[in-house]
Amino acid sequence: MSEEPVKFTLSERDIPTHWVNLLPDLPGEPLPPLSPQTMEPAGPPDLTPIFPMALIEQEVSTEPDIEIPEEVRDAYKLWRPTPLFRARRLERELDTPAHIYYKYEGVSPAGSHKPNTAVPQAYENARAGIKRLATETGAGQWGSSLAFACSLFGLECEVFMVGSSYDQKPYRRSMMQTWGATVHRSPSTLTGSGRAQQAHPTGSLGIAISEAVEIAAGREDTNYALGSVLNHVLLHQTVIGQEAAAQMAMAGEQPDVIVACVGGGSNFGGLTFPFVREVLKGRASTRFIAAEPSACPTLTRGTYRYDYGDTAGLTPLMPMYTLGHDFVPPPVHAGGLRYHGDAPMVCGLVRAGLVEARAYRQNETFEAAVRFARSEGIIPAPEPAHAIRAVIEEAESAREAGEARVILFGLCGHGHFDLSAYDAYLAGELEDPEFSEQEMDDALARLPQTPAIA
Ligand SMILES: Cc1ncc(COP(=O)(O)O)c(C=O)c1O
Repeated sequence: MSEEPVKFTLSERDIPTHWVNLLPDLPGEPLPPLSPQTMEPAGPPDLTPIFPMALIEQEVSTEPDIEIPEEVRDAYKLWRPTPLFRARRLERELDTPAHIYYKYEGVSPAGSHKPNTAVPQAYENARAGIKRLATETGAGQWGSSLAFACSLFGLECEVFMVGSSYDQKPYRRSMMQTWGATVHRSPSTLTGSGRAQQAHPTGSLGIAISEAVEIAAGREDTNYALGSVLNHVLLHQTVIGQEAAAQMAMAGEQPDVIVACVGGGSNFGGLTFPFVREVLKGRASTRFIAAEPSACPTLTRGTYRYDYGDTAGLTPLMPMYTLGHDFVPPPVHAGGLRYHGDAPMVCGLVRAGLVEARAYRQNETFEAAVRFARSEGIIPAPEPAHAIRAVIEEAESAREAGEARVILFGLCGHGHFDLSAYDAYLAGELEDPEFSEQEMDDALARLPQTPAIA
């Protein structure tokens, strides 16, 4: 056996004690969310019907570090710290001088990074006396994570699952039900927002969010939980990047470039923000790459302006790159990346030129995922397959430049429930659905008039 380490592991004592809040480090004043009723800046009172105060405080906090409650750290022990791997076999397969590392979040009970925020969200809602959480899910990863977290803190959980994923991933539904959740195919006929969207049977994250928000706003004992986009969600995910920084130090290396996929931006933010802080403070010069689907190219082709977080226009408006809140992306298998907008914090970093965004077609991401599975063993979820595609490009360009470039990427979930997509790819039947510029323009034309962003 060679002496070369492949895994860098931390002990439970090394689970971070604080989350990293990037908000105070970002250049300029943060742009406030706008109330959907008044189009004026939304404050905490606009959010109390659906979120507990502790999470609202985290959402707007300007403290650089926020303490993680002991009960949450205890629950994190079920799967954290997660391993960091050096992808030596992939490096050999690619014949690259690059050193490739990946932080693997697929070891969580739900199989992705999503429990990192599901647990603190369920914890704070239970502490506030809430009995039930309503949510949406795309690929099923978020819904299963929240179902798991609710089971830890004695909450009921109701999930609206995007229609196309509900059909493609029946066992994700079984998982949620095993943890005690109720699951509806979205658009459903249970809500006004769902009934209004029956013409889009494949559904979208935006529609499912509207359904869950509607349920939460209509019941005293029920709150809403979002799996991405919001500041507090990205905050919770920074346990990933903090552990990765400690593990890279164990490996004796610093990343030159960090890559992650972006659906709403939470695994990207979680992995990169502790490193972005170092760049903003002038202590590092790391590059950051956000990988997204060319079928839903928010960061690469969207317009930067205020838009709703959901299709029906029930949530506050946020400044972000958007394809239009009622744009329904084609049904690619990376269901978690089918969202019309992105986290305001991630969009701000793209706009400031600190993060580069790249878009990939479905088949090229599966080609990368299969190459990864055949060298490293792990079968990736279709979402991080986008990051792997970008990593392969970086590793190839390092070879051309003759550089021992250090690449770190987020392998944010496994693909054990996505095998129908692998089947289609292996049978040569996977499609590359086209993004429609016209549909985006039409959706953008339906956006409300909001203050221009300087
Ligand atoms: C495995 C996986 N990766 C990525 C995403 C995208 O979300 P985010 O950009 O918030 O990490 C999802 C969302 O459901 C997911 O399940």
